[in-house]
Amino acid sequence: MTYGTLLTNLENGILTITVNRPDKMNALNREVFNDLDNVMDEITTNAEIKSAIITGSGAKAFVAGADIAEFADYNKEEAMALAKRGQDVFFKIENSKKPVIAAVNGFALGGGCELAMACHFRICSENAKFGQPEVNLGLIPGYGGTQRLTQLVGKGKSMELQMTARMIDANEALACGLVNQVCSTESLLERTREILTTIQSKAPIAIGKIIECINIAVVSDSAYTNGKTGFEKEIESFGDCFNTSDMKEGTTAFLEKRKAVFTGK
Ligand code: COA
Repeated sequence: MTYGTLLTNLENGILTITVNRPDKMNALNREVFNDLDNVMDEITTNAEIKSAIITGSGAKAFVAGADIAEFADYNKEEAMALAKRGQDVFFKIENSKKPVIAAVNGFALGGGCELAMACHFRICSENAKFGQPEVNLGLIPGYGGTQRLTQLVGKGKSMELQMTARMIDANEALACGLVNQVCSTESLLERTREILTTIQSKAPIAIGKIIECINIAVVSDSAYTNGKTGFEKEIESFGDCFNTSDMKEGTTAFLEKRKAVFTGK
């Protein structure tokens, strides 16, 4: 499929999604949200897509936030609808059964930092900068930032970053657990693809269940947990794996001292 605000490229099962509004620092407007919503559906339904990378167009920005020009005149109801829309799309990314990694190539501010945090984990380039500068606009984050930043970096750091609007660089993001790895700008996509290639060599059903169980550990919203605790979900998911051919293949291959070949069944 093609999208107005996203570039997509499918190679070796990895769909690279590039938010493509470079003249606006890839800011998230309504159209970008619609496109992200639709591309997540494509990831779910297209069996050729095994995993995805989200990155930004140009050398400067991953995504510099929600499009400020779009919401500047909103009233309370419109603002709440905007936050709900953003949260729903980001929940869709977070709950994708196929891995989605953010490759952060520059500014990840406001909604951009929130988009990166909705991905399963984050790799960034040395020039990446992260922040939740909403208080500069008299606002707070609305696309899950108050929750996900706290889950990732802890309460004290999250409070500090959101109250001061201070931007942090790649090394500080690494030190506080916001990103998993830092690499050069030139190697960012290659490194991210290497990680996904490793993940794609594992059993896909098991990978999907790991995502589900870990999400329950951090998402308290009962709409997304079906009333189950994470431990209950883990027991059920562990059992489900025993009904898969991939589990039989994985255990048999280990006992036969050979490499497992998984089929996703
Ligand atoms: N929404 C809408 N437009 C944005 C934007 C955003 N979040 N971030 C950047 N842009 C636009 C700028 O308005 C400018 O457009 P113009 O050329 O038509 O005037 C263009 O992108 C380039 O940005 P500019 O500010 O000139 O680049 P810079 O290199 O001087 O600064 C940033 C880069 C990212 C530091 C700066 O753009 C910025 O602070 N952006 C807003 C970040 C923010 O508050 N995000 C949270 C939103 S809730």
